[in-house]
Amino acid sequence: MPSTRKKKPSKATAAAKRRPAKPRTTKPAKPWQGRFAAATAPIVEEFTASISFDQRLAPYDIAGSLAHCRMLASCGIIPTADSKRICRALEDIGKEITAGSFKFSSRDEDIHMAIERRLIEKIGATGGRLHTARSRNDQVALDLRMFVREEIGAILKQITGFQKSLVRLARKNVRVVMPGYTHLQRAQPVLFAHHLLAYHAMLERDGERLTDCRRRTDVLPLGSGALAGTTFPIDPSQVARELRFTRISSNSLDAVSDRDFIVEMLAGCSLLAMHLSRLAEELVLWSSSEFGFVTFPDEFATGSSIMPQKKNPDVAELVRGKTGRTYGNLFAVLTVLKGLPLAYNRDLQEDKPPLFDTVDSIKGCLGVLTDLIPRLTVNADTMRAAAGDPFLLATDVADYLVTKGLPFRDAHRVVGQAVRQCLREGRSLQSLNLAEWRNLSDSFGRDFREWLTIEAALARRAAGGGTAPANVARRLREVG
Ligand code: ARG
Repeated sequence: MPSTRKKKPSKATAAAKRRPAKPRTTKPAKPWQGRFAAATAPIVEEFTASISFDQRLAPYDIAGSLAHCRMLASCGIIPTADSKRICRALEDIGKEITAGSFKFSSRDEDIHMAIERRLIEKIGATGGRLHTARSRNDQVALDLRMFVREEIGAILKQITGFQKSLVRLARKNVRVVMPGYTHLQRAQPVLFAHHLLAYHAMLERDGERLTDCRRRTDVLPLGSGALAGTTFPIDPSQVARELRFTRISSNSLDAVSDRDFIVEMLAGCSLLAMHLSRLAEELVLWSSSEFGFVTFPDEFATGSSIMPQKKNPDVAELVRGKTGRTYGNLFAVLTVLKGLPLAYNRDLQEDKPPLFDTVDSIKGCLGVLTDLIPRLTVNADTMRAAAGDPFLLATDVADYLVTKGLPFRDAHRVVGQAVRQCLREGRSLQSLNLAEWRNLSDSFGRDFREWLTIEAALARRAAGGGTAPANVARRLREVG
């Protein structure tokens, strides 16, 4: 189902602002007005309204109402003829919203009331039967679950697309060698493709987490009523079937106040954002003159308004920056939930802006990175030169000595001495001749020369998930 997003009803809002902040004395307009002597103050309407953001839930609200309405008729709770009229009108309202001709007003308070108001405008009092055996509390829980379920599906597709982009770039550069880092210090040579596949692995977990969250989101809360259940003989399983829910909630109090699925979604997206941010940070570093490992395509870079020479990686910086709001949104919802007594509380309305914001940010980040990654120019020679750092094979020298029978700690000490000698004499490990090596340890033999090349070092790392070209090639086949 496409998500429907409309602009805030600016005219209506402006009109509401002009209205004096005194209670209206005109005919009551609220569905709950019966109990009140005075109309809601406009300032309260403005303050409590969620219509400016929850109109995005309209497609789900309508689908949920259609299923509810048909169920009411098949259970004999409302007449079939009324159900048919209501469903037809709801479908028309859906079209009005999609076409942008639906007039939203802050007086409607939220999307549920807006649709019900329009329904009654269209078919009169019969429209008032739709809300039988239902509350906005179970209604909004339903809409949110449908929204999250749908958006997880969309994000999972994007994750797959992004992983494909990584694999494409890795395949194109399958022989490119770069230094691997720890503490941002050159550590050991690795294949660039191996580095990219690390992100593939992170995104794989992100997909699993969201899939898992979707399983717990897939529970129908409708039928819980305001909090205690409903007195009508409803059939939730019919609604669940129509709306493709696998399970039905087992406790009405929990069902109307549970937003765990939103927290899980925001947590899953926070981890995902963190992974994208780490990659973004590497792209920022790699595209700097200091590294020069990659060059951004012009279409994905930005300039400076004052320094004509600049080519900035703003896309990567913003991916990194948006992680902040993603974490913030998770904490916003966790904090809203903390301390809420059972069951529904209006605080819960505050769950939507953070949820929507994270969904939009994550989709934006995945979209732009997916397009950018395969377009990066990989400066293989610069990477190779950095991987040729004279000391990157120090661990391999120690490993060599271990193969000759030395305990690793002793080997480590011998190589440490060699490094110190090289630093003192301004030389590289490779420049020491066999006699000099043998001076440090008589375990060095004739086979040592060929041991000490980048290619040999890479190929040796074949165990586990090492960077050996054979490993990487196999992994590229598996994932792709
Ligand atoms: N706009 C409300 C929300 O987002 C819908 C539920 C309102 N329920 C209520 N009892 N006022 O949470």
